[in-house]
Amino acid sequence: MTNTMNNPVRVPVALGGRSYDIMVGHGLLANAAALIAPHLRSPRTVLIADAAVAKLYGEPLRASLLSHGMACELIIVPSGEATKSFNAFETLLNTILALGIDRKTTLIALGGGVVGDVVGFAASVLLRGIDFIQIPTTLLAQVDSSVGGKTAINSVHGKNLVGSFYQPRLVLADLATLDSLPPRERAAGYGEVLKYGLIMNAEFYQWCLRHGADIVALQPEYTQRAVAASCSMKADIVARDEQENDVRAWLNFGHTFAHALEAETGFGSALLHGEAVAIGMRMACRLSHQLGYIGAQVEEQLKQHLQAVGLPADVSMLPGLTVERLMPHFARDKKSENGALNFVVLQAVGQAVVQKNIAPEFIAQLLQTMLEESYG
Ligand SMILES: NC(=O)c1ccc[n+]([C@@H]2O[C@H](COP(=O)([O-])OP(=O)(O)OC[C@H]3O[C@@H](n4cnc5c(N)ncnc54)[C@H](O)[C@@H]3O)[C@@H](O)[C@H]2O)c1
Ligand SMILES: [Zn+2]
Repeated sequence: MTNTMNNPVRVPVALGGRSYDIMVGHGLLANAAALIAPHLRSPRTVLIADAAVAKLYGEPLRASLLSHGMACELIIVPSGEATKSFNAFETLLNTILALGIDRKTTLIALGGGVVGDVVGFAASVLLRGIDFIQIPTTLLAQVDSSVGGKTAINSVHGKNLVGSFYQPRLVLADLATLDSLPPRERAAGYGEVLKYGLIMNAEFYQWCLRHGADIVALQPEYTQRAVAASCSMKADIVARDEQENDVRAWLNFGHTFAHALEAETGFGSALLHGEAVAIGMRMACRLSHQLGYIGAQVEEQLKQHLQAVGLPADVSMLPGLTVERLMPHFARDKKSENGALNFVVLQAVGQAVVQKNIAPEFIAQLLQTMLEESYG
């Protein structure tokens, strides 16, 4: 077994003056102070973690920073999506400001995508922009939300509608933190790993089909390769199209379907984001096939793989979904233009494309068939 602690992988994100590194390895937290120190403008840091993560990793990290001569206050926010509300955001901003921060203070986000998104957004607006560092502790955050600089909170009008593009100074993805993550959360994060293979790297996708179970079981060398490769692919896309005018849209593969499913199930524990993406990617494979691009076996193979790694492949565990309820979400989707529907589809495995002007009736028929298959 490779010792990934001694061999962290460095993934550069090339964005000119805003370039930074993602470090991926086992046990990085133990060495966090030394890794973080060169990136600070002053020794002053504010560490923000959600309650569950703070309990596991907050104090040891803070103690390590203090012992290396840095100042570090720890702010604990509630676990869960409610921390991305306007109210929670205001409370967080005021808690940080009450500490008397200055423009050289660095915020450190320790946790999953919720903490990363909210701390990144806070960093982008506090004192008109201060530095932040991400220490993602969920597989989803390590392979997706901590990479690329999208920060956001939620509005009553929808998720992630208020935010900014704002890059961190450094990302430390410590694979050891995933050990405490519930298996369901791990599998959900793996859904996004598969996505990178499907949209841009057929060879990586084939490797995932062989080793998905090892990745979800956190076999160190497989997890490290999966996280580093995912970060590298997303970094590549972000470097080409930071503000989503073009290829960054590929990252939405499966997501248009997923958002409709999540919206209908309340964005909660009934259906985790990565689980919705798994089902959505299968739907998008069916769509790609029906548009004449890929063979039907791609969807079948994906379905079997999803089931093998503990991800849902259909909506059978979500009773009561109907085409009538799902369709309106597509019209509201920010990716749709002039009423016609746009979907990211696969021209081939490893080759995504944005397909414009899909007739709503076409999608409705596809959903009807897939709901019937799910509910029997
Ligand atoms: N910015 C982006 O580009 C981007 C991309 C994808 C998703 N997101 C956002 O990310 C959020 C979802 O992220 P998430 O899935 O990481 O959710 P999350 O941050 O809510 O974490 C999931 C749960 O796991 C717990 N947890 C986190 N790390 C743990 C650990 N190591 N051990 C045990 N428990 C741990 C958390 O307390 C929480 O209860 C959503 O708000 C979504 O909108 C953002
Ligand atoms: Zn996603």
